[in-house]
Amino acid sequence: MNTAENAAEIRMAEIDDARRVLAIYTPYVTETALTLTSTIPSTEQVVQTMLDVKKRFPYLVCRINGNVVGFAYASRQHPHEAHSWNAELSIFIDPEFQGRGIATALYTALFQILKLQGYCNLYAVITIPNKPSVALHRHFGFKELVVMERSGFKLNRWHDILWMEMKIPGCHDPAEHGLPLPLNQLNNNELCTILAMSTALLNGAQQKTAR
Ligand SMILES: CC(C)(COP(=O)(O)OP(=O)(O)OC[C@H]1O[C@@H](n2cnc3c(N)ncnc32)[C@H](O)[C@@H]1OP(=O)(O)O)[C@@H](O)C(=O)NCCC(=O)NCCS
Repeated sequence: MNTAENAAEIRMAEIDDARRVLAIYTPYVTETALTLTSTIPSTEQVVQTMLDVKKRFPYLVCRINGNVVGFAYASRQHPHEAHSWNAELSIFIDPEFQGRGIATALYTALFQILKLQGYCNLYAVITIPNKPSVALHRHFGFKELVVMERSGFKLNRWHDILWMEMKIPGCHDPAEHGLPLPLNQLNNNELCTILAMSTALLNGAQQKTAR
């Protein structure tokens, strides 16, 4: 049964979430090449990234029992205007909370919001091997595009980088609809419905995990 103890929620990130986001991200920076960033950002830098992302893209967090346990956001894939309908993805879940459907709920909401805005092409840039991430992206219909061999040097060795892509089905025709809408121009009811549905999906998954 779902109780206040394990109640899960998907919602837009707020500045107060930055400390927990940083706490989740830091071990991935220092101990792995799953992010190719080598320097731990400051809380202020995390806040700045959040504010920059939120000008154009969704930045979502998952909270369980009031604590942020994972986050996902989209960001600009390439500065050229012709790539304005593209987004690159980032997703990190606290290891203690992996395998409970949190990434699934975050991505379900993220992709629905990106589609509503008018984005068309999504990219995941994955340091391999990373079986969970490759499986997660395949699960959402991403296809492998290319492996850039020995393309990132971190923790004293080279890493191969896999690019995966998904075309959002039924995305807006840019010739008809123009640039993707900023988040503040979306219908707030639609946005709330997407977040409520992914929260419900997650609470269903939590109940299954708890059984
Ligand atoms: C990849 C990651 C985001 C998945 O998060 P998660 O909340 O554990 O994922 P979910 O429980 O929602 O699982 C969704 C799907 O991902 C795949 N998956 C997740 N963990 C997996 C694992 N350990 N092995 C194989 N597949 C896995 C499965 O296809 C799963 O669907 P299923 O449960 O129907 O089989 C998480 O492992 C993580 O944060 N990893 C470290 C950071 C990272 O690699 N981020 C991506 C950078 S590109």
